[in-house]
Amino acid sequence: MRIVKATGREKAFKAGTAPAALWEQIDPKALPRHIAIIMDGNGRWARRRRQPRLAGHRAGVRATREIVESCARIQLPVLTLYAFSLDNWRRPAAEIELLMRLLRQYVRQDLDYMRRNNVRLRLIGRWRELPGEVCTDVARAMETTAANTGLQLVVALNYSARAELVDAVQRLLADAQQNGLTRVDEAALATRLYAPDLPDPDLLIRTSGEMRLSNFLLWQLAYTEIWVTETLWPDFSTTHLLEAILDFQRRERRYGGLAPGEERGARERSRAGKRGVLLPR
Ligand code: FPP
Repeated sequence: MRIVKATGREKAFKAGTAPAALWEQIDPKALPRHIAIIMDGNGRWARRRRQPRLAGHRAGVRATREIVESCARIQLPVLTLYAFSLDNWRRPAAEIELLMRLLRQYVRQDLDYMRRNNVRLRLIGRWRELPGEVCTDVARAMETTAANTGLQLVVALNYSARAELVDAVQRLLADAQQNGLTRVDEAALATRLYAPDLPDPDLLIRTSGEMRLSNFLLWQLAYTEIWVTETLWPDFSTTHLLEAILDFQRRERRYGGLAPGEERGARERSRAGKRGVLLPR
């Protein structure tokens, strides 16, 4: 079934539900362009239910599916999900195998959904180093959805931000040797990241209450607003997503500058200072 797109706020979610009430308060024209999520807490979710970690990861996939569909529904341009980090290789082999299997299942089962709903799947990370069957499945889903123009679903797979920066520096070195590159500035490095065409995330969501970046998008998160919830990933729902967006829309982003009112005040104080007048703050 094709989802209903949120062309007007009344159509996005079923009337009378918590998401519909939150969507009412959100300005659809001021959505973040890019939301990044550290999906955390699958293991704890399972432990609290005395279930194996496998059950937590399965429930995590269900939450992932709901969030992807809601992001497509509200016409978010970019969603990046931290699915598997280079540090996750420290986990037991059986858990790694399970995560890879779930990921393959997800891209196979949801490929049809992505095609019908104009979702483009992209990957960042050293995913080509993963086992052949994983690469085959994700590459196929990427190729199949490459021309889609709706939500860009970016899965960080076999990813770490430090490795991404190292890979970018390697490309700079190669360009220095082969193409005579002699000067490096921020743009030179940024254009050599894994997905240089994407805007930096406006909002980072982390579940399960941890206050860490965990080696995720360190370059791109420089000015990102952070929203942390105690909710464990398998319990994270559209309601939480919309709460985070609403909170984001109430924040003031200054990028190291001053708030608009303060800016005027500071300019006046500096002019008055030059004339030798002391103004109250
Ligand atoms: C964190 O929970 C979660 C992960 C390391 C894996 C995230 C993967 C999924 C949700 C499923 C596959 C992804 C996609 C895109 C379909 P944890 O195991 O670290 O939880 P804990 O900290 O409570 O132990």
